[in-house]
Amino acid sequence: MSAKPAISYQKVSKSFGSLKAVDDVSFDVADGEFVAIVGGSGSGKTTLLRLANRLIEPDSGTITVEGEDVRNVDPVALRRRIGYVFQSGGLFPHLSVADNIGITPKLLGEAAATIAGRVDELLELVRLDRASHRGRLPEALSGGQRQRVGVARALAARPRIVLMDEPFGALDPLTRDALGDDYRSLHRKLGLTTVMITHDMTEAILLADRIAVMRGGRLLAQGTAAELSSSSSDYVLELLRTPRRQVERLNVLLPVGGAA
Ligand SMILES: Nc1ncnc2c1ncn2[C@@H]1O[C@H](COP(=O)(O)OP(=O)(O)OP(=O)(O)O)[C@@H](O)[C@H]1O
Ligand SMILES: [Mg+2]
Repeated sequence: MSAKPAISYQKVSKSFGSLKAVDDVSFDVADGEFVAIVGGSGSGKTTLLRLANRLIEPDSGTITVEGEDVRNVDPVALRRRIGYVFQSGGLFPHLSVADNIGITPKLLGEAAATIAGRVDELLELVRLDRASHRGRLPEALSGGQRQRVGVARALAARPRIVLMDEPFGALDPLTRDALGDDYRSLHRKLGLTTVMITHDMTEAILLADRIAVMRGGRLLAQGTAAELSSSSSDYVLELLRTPRRQVERLNVLLPVGGAA
């Protein structure tokens, strides 16, 4: 393990016209860390993520990935090193599950037999039955299955870093919980560095090592849930109020090991 951060933002800004989508953000993600980015709609979360793999270029500031200034790395090569899971799954609708997962290895010119083996390995990794899923089109999958395929595809080129844009947002709570737990195990098992955007503070607390809070393009606060709970920002405390209320209500409504 290197001491270099996996991703480092140094005084990064990005505007769209007069709107500062990302405003002077400095932030490091350590090697092997799981970071959640939370914040309201339009606060700059997706923009921040897309700057890391050069889907967007900053107006000012520096971004490094594994110690290298991303400006010196070919964007295509960079995107092979960084897996990306899109909000809606982002699968190609006309390609089978196997072809969706194998698309990056195919673009890299790997042999068909190697790709087929890799696809099977990845389906197992994300816990989808191979025989019944390989040949299906995305439209024939449930939302949760689609997100599993999205994760498998992001891992196909064996990236060390994975960026996820609200990967589990559109799922029912149980599926979301199961997928979150499964992904967290993968993160650990594969020694990944993960940055995940979520609207859900409870999910952020349960999955991530550290939470970054965005507001109006600024990085308002960052730290563990415990650290954030002593934040001086009313907005951060307000975000923590929901999980607290959930815990309190659950403690009342769902007594542990309730009466027989
Ligand atoms: N390509 C673009 N052109 C113009 N404005 C953009 C572009 N991309 C993002 N923006 C604007 O930048 C701001 C930040 O957008 P961003 O997508 O980063 O927000 P977000 O925090 O991901 O929001 P959400 O939670 O709704 O996904 C928004 O006001 C958005 O409208
Ligand atoms: Mg977004």
